[in-house]
Amino acid sequence: MRKILSTGLIAILVMSLFFVADGDVLASQNTKSVQTVAHRGASGYAPENTMAAFEKSVEMKADYFELDVQLTKDGELIVIHDTSVDRTTNGSGKVKDMTLEELKHLDAGSWFGEEFAGEKLPTLGEVLDAYRGKSGILIELKSPSLYPGIEEKVAAELAKRNMDKPHNNKVIVQSFDHESVETLHSILPSVPTGVLVSYTMSDEQLNEVARYSDYVNPGKWLITSDFVDRIHENGMEAQAWTVRDIDSVDPLLEAGVDGIITDYPDYVNRR
Ligand code: G3P
Ligand code: CA
Repeated sequence: MRKILSTGLIAILVMSLFFVADGDVLASQNTKSVQTVAHRGASGYAPENTMAAFEKSVEMKADYFELDVQLTKDGELIVIHDTSVDRTTNGSGKVKDMTLEELKHLDAGSWFGEEFAGEKLPTLGEVLDAYRGKSGILIELKSPSLYPGIEEKVAAELAKRNMDKPHNNKVIVQSFDHESVETLHSILPSVPTGVLVSYTMSDEQLNEVARYSDYVNPGKWLITSDFVDRIHENGMEAQAWTVRDIDSVDPLLEAGVDGIITDYPDYVNRR
């Protein structure tokens, strides 16, 4: 009886070791090609959408950093997430009602930590000049319906720097506003684009966005291997957002995502 019990125990131990090892192999295989995207820069470690956060992303060896772009009152491309400056600066008011000069006077770092006092809101041009060739850049057109013509302005900034050429293309332009993504694609067809989604897409919807988009980027709660497979079958890639806890990483890798958008790039790069 004792012999039967111990043989059973050994069999269970061997089987659990097999499953653990198998999971590790799967995770490390997928990690090889997964793109790490620092969300608003490495925004778990530095104030979002500032040069400090983009610098941290590069230091942490993320493949891309993500940023949000809007237009100032005087038509300049400014990097900030919210449509008001209240949460992430020492000012108040709407981005679209302030000039570039007014926005440049704001402190975009102190809210996050005193060591970041004096950080400024960067323009898109400043970020492209500083990081072109040093990091991939995922540009989100934020609330573009508020800013008619923003697609042409972003396209011009990329073209001016030859970043619209296929060999220089470590840039992606994405938005929740799919019409805006289609517009950008029609202006610069060689620049990769992505649609952000907060819902699972049908095959028909995937087929439709595949006309103008290279990525479908869903909220992480939507990720299943079926959804990722269907995105791939339509010739696109999937980057999931936004990882803020380490336990979310492995299920996303196992579902086969191509990229993970995270405030903490080290959660993905830890292996
Ligand atoms: O890149 C994905 C993510 O940025 C979308 O959400 O609100 O952080 O811009 P949000
Ligand atoms: Ca964003």
